[in-house]
Amino acid sequence: MTRLRLPGLVDVHTHMRDPGQTHKEDWSTGTAAALAGGFTTVLAMPNTNPPVVDRRTLDGALAAAAAGARCDYGQYVGATETNAGEAAALAPEAAGLKMYLDSTFGELRLPEPAAWSRHLEAWPEDRPVAVHAEGSTLEAVLLMATRLERPIHVCHLSTEQEVLLVIEARERGLAVTCEVTPHHLFLDASDATRMGGPAAVRPPLATAADREALWRHLADIDCFATDHAPHTWAEKTSDTPPPGFPGLETVVALLLGAVDEGRLAIDDLVLRLHDNPMRIFGLPDQADTVVEVDTAETWTVHGPDLHTRAAWSPFEGRRLLGRVIGVTLRGVEVYREGEVLAAPGFGRKARAKEPE
Ligand code: NCD
Ligand code: ZN
Repeated sequence: MTRLRLPGLVDVHTHMRDPGQTHKEDWSTGTAAALAGGFTTVLAMPNTNPPVVDRRTLDGALAAAAAGARCDYGQYVGATETNAGEAAALAPEAAGLKMYLDSTFGELRLPEPAAWSRHLEAWPEDRPVAVHAEGSTLEAVLLMATRLERPIHVCHLSTEQEVLLVIEARERGLAVTCEVTPHHLFLDASDATRMGGPAAVRPPLATAADREALWRHLADIDCFATDHAPHTWAEKTSDTPPPGFPGLETVVALLLGAVDEGRLAIDDLVLRLHDNPMRIFGLPDQADTVVEVDTAETWTVHGPDLHTRAAWSPFEGRRLLGRVIGVTLRGVEVYREGEVLAAPGFGRKARAKEPE
């Protein structure tokens, strides 16, 4: 049997660039890429232009999503120095709060720990707070969350040190969940050297030892998240390449390859791309939804064949084993063998469940 049926996968960390930078991606192209990759729900990050930080900008992003999305979606609200109260009031409509504690693409940034604590105290405890925090910044925010007894979700762990910090925080009693990206699992500093400027990504590709540590500590990792961060190839090869990789369309095949190599079980994949994301983000079940994969099909990554508007991949030229063949969402066939069948606007906002 080379055909498997998986539940609708959830990407808890996607950048849609809509509104504001739709030459990189928009809701229609980004969710076409999601469906082709086996995702039926994406949670969109707030570092759009304008960033999603208040009522007006959340309404704008949700209107763009309602018109363009081909799969289901949620939208994060971004934390600023001044919006703790206003952001918290939007929590019932948001996928979560995103706090950028280290610099990355876009203007959202929260350098002052005083602002971290304002947000950690104001945001409803039963709704997720996701942090971008690397190295010593991660150590600092985990200490603060522990002191405030505030559950927290850590985005894109990339080093052994960061994994150990999460494990220590759990041992101190903090409810902390975490994600790793496919590029930190399947690429490292040697690939960055080979790729040159386009290898720019936050957090940066780490050492081979760090990459192996992520695999060794997989039991402590709750989610795989793509951090799909599309930029055009012209931007990536410019003198000032913006950080970020497209990732929605390659992650399932990369992980199925790891299953074939005996590094992962299918259940590990489903746990981290469906069960845990659903639980952590309180997402509702999608009835009559299934993702069919062929674990025997081989294919070669070629940027222009992808659905993302970015049309390139950090895995360009890699031969992958396993492929998403078809997707049915809420009883409707939305993807079949390369063709996205769902129209823009088919996607629905994934309404967070009432906390149990
Ligand atoms: C992301 C982007 O381009 O929006 N870039 C990245 O390198 N990951 C921002 C982010 O998630 O840090
Ligand atoms: Zn990101």
